[in-house]
Order: sequence, then C-alpha cells, then structure tokens
Amino acid sequence: MSSKAALAILLLALAGGAGASAPAAGDASAAPTPAAAGFKHLGYASCAQSTCHGAATPWMISPIRQNEYFQWRDHDPHAHAYAGLSGPRAQAIAAKLGVSEAAKTPLCLGCHSDNVPEAQRGENFRIEEGIGCEACHGGSEKWLGQHNLPDVDPMSMTDRGLYPTWQLQARTTLCLGCHQYGQRGADHHLVAAGHPEFSDDLPAYFAKWPHHFGVDAQYVARKHPATAAQTATQTDLQAAGNWAAALASSEAAHQGLMPELSFFQCDNCHRGLSQPDRGSTGLPRLDQAALRRLLASGALDGQLRARLSDRAAALDGALLHGDRAAFYNAARELAADLQAAQAAAR
Ligand code: HEC
Ligand code: HEC
Ligand code: HEC
Ligand code: HEC
Repeated sequence: MSSKAALAILLLALAGGAGASAPAAGDASAAPTPAAAGFKHLGYASCAQSTCHGAATPWMISPIRQNEYFQWRDHDPHAHAYAGLSGPRAQAIAAKLGVSEAAKTPLCLGCHSDNVPEAQRGENFRIEEGIGCEACHGGSEKWLGQHNLPDVDPMSMTDRGLYPTWQLQARTTLCLGCHQYGQRGADHHLVAAGHPEFSDDLPAYFAKWPHHFGVDAQYVARKHPATAAQTATQTDLQAAGNWAAALASSEAAHQGLMPELSFFQCDNCHRGLSQPDRGSTGLPRLDQAALRRLLASGALDGQLRARLSDRAAALDGALLHGDRAAFYNAARELAADLQAAQAAAR
C-alpha cells in the first residue's frame, strides 16, 4: 500500500478528536476529583488565618508547618494560574480559538482555577484565587471545622470531602487531570493556538513542583509517602493508561477529517524536510513516551512488561496496516492492562 493511501486510511480510521471547545476524548471526569464529593468550596480565607495555615514562619510545636498559605501564594505557580488568563499570551490564545475572554471561558477556567459549579461555591469563594487549597484538597464545607480538632486524624476526613492527596494514586490522578494531553480539553488545537506544550515526561515535570509541605521524618511516619521511583512509575502508568483510554474512546467521536494529533509524536510532523528520519514509515508515530519509559525502567515485572510490549507493538502494527478494528482493539486492551497495573502498583 502506498503511504498516501495508508495515511488516508489512517485519517479516516482515526477520524475524530475533540475540538478545543469540548473536552478531549478520555476526559478525566470519570476519575475522582477534589470537586466530585459535591461539598462547598469556601475559599482560602477559611484556611489562611495566622493560627491555621497562614503562619508567617513554620511552627515548631506543630506537626505541620502552618505557613502553607504563604508558601503557596509566594512560590507555587498554581496561585497565579487565574491571573495569567488576563495576560497578553492568554488573550492571544483566546483570540485564535475565537473566544473573547479567557478568564470567562470554561475551557481555560477548568485548569486555571477551581471552577466548581455555582452550587458548590461558598459565600467567600472567589474564582480569582486560581488553583487554591480546595482545588486540590477538596471542598472544606464539611471538614473545615473538624480536621483540626484535638485527637482527630485529618486523614480520616475523606468521607467529608477531604481529597486524599497523601495517597499516591489519588494524587497522581489529581495532577494529571490538568497536565496531560487528552485531559479537560488539552489537545492539539490548544497548543497550536499558542498554549505552552504539555510535558511528555510528567514524572520529571512534577518533581519540579515547589510545594508547601515538609517531608521530614515526622511526616514520613504520619503519611508513609511513596518513593520517587514509585511516584514516577505510578505517574507513567496512569499517563499511559489515560492516553490509551483516550485513543480507544476516540473511535466513537467521528467528527472532522483528522485524528486528534496530540496522540502522535509532535516531531514526526513538526520536523523540517532537511532533517530526514531514516526510520520513517511515512505515517506519524504514536506518542508512547510514558509507556516506553515504563518498559525501559525495570519497574515492571517481567510478565507485565512482556504483555505491555506486545500490546504496544500490536497498536503500531495496526496503525501501519490501516487495520481499524485491530487498532482500537489493541488500544482498549492496552488501556485495560495499564489500568489494572496502576491499581495494583504502589
Ligand atoms: C488541560 C488543562 C489546561 C487547559 C484546558 C488550559 N490550560 Fe493553560 N496551562 C495549563 C498548564 C498545565 C500550564 C503550564 C504549562 C507549562 O508547564 O508551561 C498552562 C500555562 C498557560 C499559560 C502560560 C502561563 C504563564 O504564566 O506563562 C497561559 C497564558 C495559558 N496557560 C492560557 C490558557 C488559556 C487562554 C486557556 C484556554 C483557552 C488555557 N490556558 C487552557 C493547563 C491548561
Ligand atoms: C496543586 C495542588 C495543591 C494545592 C493548590 C494545595 N495543596 Fe496542600 N498539598 C498538596 C499535596 C499533593 C500535598 C502532599 C500530600 C499530603 O500530605 O496530603 C499537600 C499537603 C498539604 C498539607 C499537609 C502537610 C503535612 O505536613 O501533613 C497541608 C496542611 C496543606 N497541604 C495545606 C494547603 C493549603 C492551606 C493550601 C492553600 C493555601 C494548599 N495546601 C494548596 C496539594 C496541594
Ligand atoms: C486544576 C488544574 C491543576 C491541577 C489539579 C494541578 N495543576 Fe499544576 N499547573 C496548572 C496550571 C494551569 C499551571 C500553570 C500556572 C501558570 O503558570 O499560570 C500549573 C503549573 C504547574 C507547574 C509549574 C511548571 C513550570 O513551568 O513552572 C508544576 C511543576 C505543576 N503545575 C505540578 C503539579 C502537580 C505536582 C500537581 C498535583 C499535586 C498539579 N500540578 C496539579 C494546573 C493544575
Ligand atoms: C500528524 C501531524 C502532526 C502532529 C503529530 C502534531 N502536529 Fe502540530 N500541527 C500539524 C499541522 C498540520 C499544523 C497546522 C500547520 C499550519 O497551520 O500551517 C500544526 C500546527 C501546530 C502548531 C502551530 C504552529 C504555528 O506555526 O502556529 C503548534 C504549536 C503545534 N502544531 C504543536 C504540536 C505539538 C506540541 C504536537 C505534539 C503534542 C503536535 N503539534 C503534533 C500537524 C501535526
């Protein structure tokens, strides 16, 4: 088959992919989020008093630092996520996407603020707070007055809506929800309009987060945090699983001529003709960076590694041969294997 014919089949076979105005296929909305419990978000004013999380300097007598608010406000890029939507870069992106105000556009607010439904906004909730405490820790309506009582373990408050940020899987789900292609509308339209690219090495990217908690011996005893290697493996398992699930579910979204381009390796298409690629098949290759990293890491047991490697090869083979049924089948099987593996991994 000529590569032109193969490409035509590929495009027809994969036709779909969501526009920038709709969430991309494989949207994380099925995953638990800090907003999912349905409780009200009260705004950071409820957290930032000087005797709570707004201490000027870390407290020596408390198990936690208590200066989390200032750490977040002064060092965490999430604190400025909403403000950035009024800047010139955001305006240029919005103009290209045909929306007038980024700061009022649900697509942008979904990742740049704590955009919970109106019914979940308490009296002092302000969207201007950007990605505030409750965007990650969950609406505090039912746990605010409880989590600091003597003899109460805040980690027992999850049924009151405290999101379990200390659990590796929940935390990874939280971070990926705004940082990966395929989530909440992060797609090729968005980056082509001038949005910064989303990282394809998320374990390394997340490790740079300037966070607001201290991981000392006491913290380790309370929370048993995962090691850096466990965190990297979980991040790649979930990222690859989300990717495969989005790919599998894109079969149903038949609109437009082109498949969602962020499923593929960016530099396959964005490479000058003066830089030939000797391995080229004439078709764009799938972006399997997270999966490749996992297979190379030694973190997986032999059986799982072999199965994932077979699935990846099946997917590439089906793409090359334009075999639509085999392609989506392989994507579904890969997604299921990765989901099972991430649920089992620490
Ligand atoms: C899927 C989540 C997501 C969506 C949707 C999203 N963003 Fe972003 N945005 C991010 C992330 C993550 C970053 C940080 C990227 C990086 O590492 O550079 C970012 C960064 C930016 C930046 C650069 C920030 C800076 O200070 O330099 C701008 C501007 C921006 N986004 C505007 C927008 C606009 C406008 C929209 C809506 C059209 C939008 N974003 C939609 C997640 C998102
Ligand atoms: C981008 C997500 C995010 C935002 C925003 C955020 N946190 Fe956190 N926070 C986390 C994660 C992840 C942890 C580490 C896991 C854990 O200990 O629960 C954490 C830990 C904590 C801890 C526990 C520290 C300890 O020693 O046990 C406190 C207290 C806290 N955050 C308060 C806040 C406050 C107050 C704000 C707002 C000013 C805030 N956080 C904003 C994600 C976030
Ligand atoms: C509600 C969406 C959302 C969630 C949840 C979220 N982020 Fe972000 N993150 C963003 C946006 C938007 C930005 C860009 C903010 C800006 O620069 O204006 C960002 C910026 C960052 C940056 C800074 C990158 C740089 O270039 O400086 C890191 C690192 C990061 N996030 C890590 C994390 C981690 C780790 C978690 C989970 C604990 C997380 N994020 C959860 C949306 C989110
Ligand atoms: C299958 C091919 C293909 C893949 C894969 C692909 N793109 Fe594109 N990209 C295009 C095409 C076609 C355009 C439109 C070019 C034009 O308008 O002239 C485009 C446009 C863009 C633009 C706007 C360029 C400009 O000059 O304004 C950016 C930025 C971009 N892509 C980034 C990416 C990133 C990041 C990835 C990987 C996540 C990616 N692309 C993957 C084909 C691709």
